[in-house]
Amino acid sequence: MSEKPYYVTTPIYYVTAAPHIGSAYTTVAGDVLTRWHAQRGERKWYLTGTDEHGEKVLRSAQAQGMSPQEWTDKLVEEAWKPAWVDVDIAYDDFIRTTEPRHTERVQEFVQALYDQGDVYKGEYEGLYCVGCEEFKLPADIRTDEDGTQRCMIHGTELETVSETNYFFRLSAYADRLLALYESQPDFVAPASARNEVVSFVKQGLQDLSITRSTFDWGIPVPWDKDHVLYVWVDALLNYATAAGYGKDPERFAELWPADVHLVGKDILRFHAVIWPAMLIAAGIPVPKQVFAHGWLLVGGEKMSKSKLTAIAPKEITDHFGSDAFRYYFLRTIQFGSDGSFSWEHLNAVYTSELANGLGNLASRIAAMVGKYFDGVLPEPTDHGPAEQALADKLAETVTTADQAIDTLAFHDALAAINDLVGAVNGYVSEQEPWKVAKDEAQRERLATILYTSAEVLRAVAVLHHPTMPKTAAKLWTLLGAEAKLGPLADQHVQDAGTWGQLPAGSTLTKGDALFPRLTEEA
Ligand code: ME8
Ligand code: MG
Repeated sequence: MSEKPYYVTTPIYYVTAAPHIGSAYTTVAGDVLTRWHAQRGERKWYLTGTDEHGEKVLRSAQAQGMSPQEWTDKLVEEAWKPAWVDVDIAYDDFIRTTEPRHTERVQEFVQALYDQGDVYKGEYEGLYCVGCEEFKLPADIRTDEDGTQRCMIHGTELETVSETNYFFRLSAYADRLLALYESQPDFVAPASARNEVVSFVKQGLQDLSITRSTFDWGIPVPWDKDHVLYVWVDALLNYATAAGYGKDPERFAELWPADVHLVGKDILRFHAVIWPAMLIAAGIPVPKQVFAHGWLLVGGEKMSKSKLTAIAPKEITDHFGSDAFRYYFLRTIQFGSDGSFSWEHLNAVYTSELANGLGNLASRIAAMVGKYFDGVLPEPTDHGPAEQALADKLAETVTTADQAIDTLAFHDALAAINDLVGAVNGYVSEQEPWKVAKDEAQRERLATILYTSAEVLRAVAVLHHPTMPKTAAKLWTLLGAEAKLGPLADQHVQDAGTWGQLPAGSTLTKGDALFPRLTEEA
């Protein structure tokens, strides 16, 4: 066991509506990532949560005729936490920014910045996007023919905000940020995101308005009760407050710095510019990495809570199951690039790779061991070149997949595992065990073919456990592996490629299909 848990975070999502598959995409990625590390035998810590202050949440509550606290309480309990059950998220902590464990520490943090002179009072006038909770710079504004100025992300009309605010001296940190990107080249990933951030900071930074005074749904600024804290300063601190910052030094020392902050590219700058500057100012180590993934597009547009394109994860999981959901998005979209969602594509991948690919292979092997060997896995006494090729392919797949996870290339890891399943299917088609079975003289051959296939499936269960926990558990049961090898969770992924672990004598049972065939429309 390594000392420090591998600490991964998701953005804390605005509770303005129920989650959609975009929010689930990030949350599933972090879940697979942390489960993968656990499958290596490492400790992990996975944090998610909700961002509950600010004008955006306030307005959504008002539209419901509720107080923001009632509204967020309701949505968190009735929509957000249940959605994470729907997609099978094993988070270790769920932080809400309205909790005292957060608000109190945030006040201490900003008070310290104020006391050290990093925060000053000034005037501000700018164009604000409530959807982004951000003052927009000219490069991020789209102007219509009639002169209307719009947010490039949300397309909504920007609002002029003119206030006396407190400012954080962000401009003073540009050089230290550039030095950080230089000395810690993986701090921002992938490379495209890093380049974007570096060129943004090279242009120079403006100081950041960190308070608002025209509404009061926020954390009160401790030295001036007419102001509440800017929602992003409040929100970013969740990664530290949830880890015990300012409250539990032992825990904080154990968890911090975070290993990866997973974010969508929409909120990259907050995480790669403002957040490290805040931490540097406070003398706290910066996280190891901010990884920005791309957007799920529906009909060419970014799926968002504020548009009608939102699809609830449950619409997919009710039909395809949570494992297929988890597999599909990470398998088909390169992590870091945008990807278009369509029901047709999901259905096609489900059918070809899961139902016909893995599911059918497992049930055929279990059925044949049942039929020809009374369900007891035979000894492979005729291991030859075709078997060795599969054993080699398995070892290579484990290495490829495990390394891919280090760079968050989920798509590469899952492509490699899918290839391996395809190779076993190809092997079974070539070897034609159902024909070999007709010849009593070829019992050893038959035994070897079935053993070899089952042994690769043993490794596939381990490799897929982080991504498809329910299916992998079913496969483990189908193989009768638990009795001989112990719990699936204890199988270290980096050892999964060692050949011959599933003992002859294991009892295989066909059970229900891993991926049921789906009939009606998706
Ligand atoms: O930005 N495709 O919250 P948010 C992929 N509260 N990912 C998507 C997505 C899409 N179409 N839509 C949303 C906030 N996401 C702040 C964060 S963190 C300190 C504060 C995911 O509810 C993606 O991770 O708008 C994106 O960055 C995040 O949800 C934005 O969630
Ligand atoms: Mg958003």
